[in-house]
Amino acid sequence: MRDFISVHQLSEMEIFQLLRKAEYYRKQEVQFNEKLFVANLFFEPSTRTKMSFTVAEQKLGLHVLDFHTETSSVQKGESLYDTVKTFEAIGANLVVIRHESDHWFEELKGKLSIPIINAGSGKEEHPTQCMLDLLTIYQEFGRFEGLNIVIAGDIKHSRVARSNAYALQRLGANVYVSSAPGLEDETLHIPNLPMDEAVEVCDVLMLLRIQHERHTNQAETANYLTNYGLTKERESRMKNEAILLHPAPVNRGVEIDSDLVECARSRIFKQMNNGVYMRMAIISELLQNRGVNHEDTFNKRETVGAF
Ligand code: CP
Repeated sequence: MRDFISVHQLSEMEIFQLLRKAEYYRKQEVQFNEKLFVANLFFEPSTRTKMSFTVAEQKLGLHVLDFHTETSSVQKGESLYDTVKTFEAIGANLVVIRHESDHWFEELKGKLSIPIINAGSGKEEHPTQCMLDLLTIYQEFGRFEGLNIVIAGDIKHSRVARSNAYALQRLGANVYVSSAPGLEDETLHIPNLPMDEAVEVCDVLMLLRIQHERHTNQAETANYLTNYGLTKERESRMKNEAILLHPAPVNRGVEIDSDLVECARSRIFKQMNNGVYMRMAIISELLQNRGVNHEDTFNKRETVGAF
């Protein structure tokens, strides 16, 4: 693994290795021995992903270069390619990129000597979010095989849905979607359950944000909670051990009743905490694969099994 672009690039063994490594970093402080620089290039808004990358990088001892599109030469028309090449030239050892284009990485492929991490590409992929979701599910159940996982909400506009649907199916979970008319994505070829049925069968309910900014029809969200969202009545019909995930930010009162965001089965803030350790694992893996050393005794050979 030289870059971290897509969950499609990961073998099952690499996924389990990252899960174990993230859990190891929760318990073990690890710092790189050399002076290393990282740039977080976010061309779309972010709170969780950008800040948890920043915390992960600083925990690993990396120096984080300050970059904001609104005060950068992006405002003078500089392209993504030239921006990234600039960071490579001035000494960044790693770049983390979020961009509205579905395939922004294509123009960078084979043209950089430093690793790239995809922190969100248009509507296509959010692979680090997927990995932290996998970590949260694995912490709870110790397996993926046979779990009923429902991804519910705005499937059509969701890069989180696409990354998770692929990875979870690959790991043996039974994946379903639950989406309102107009928010489906037929290209995924996944059975669509009405929310009333979904809540009763799921072990994991992964709610997605209604992405107002990608919608042309704002009327779509009127009465969404009652018709398609997680109300208290629907939550009361979930299995006792079933958990609730959401990548956040949450539209309280739209896809989920506000009181359920922090209910007993919610793992929403746990996901955010896991994001720090999973991003540490991904950064460390990429830099180590490029020959950068730190005093990490994580044993790569023990790839599957309990944490
Ligand atoms: N889950 C997620 O990607 O959140 P941000 O957009 O705040 O980074």
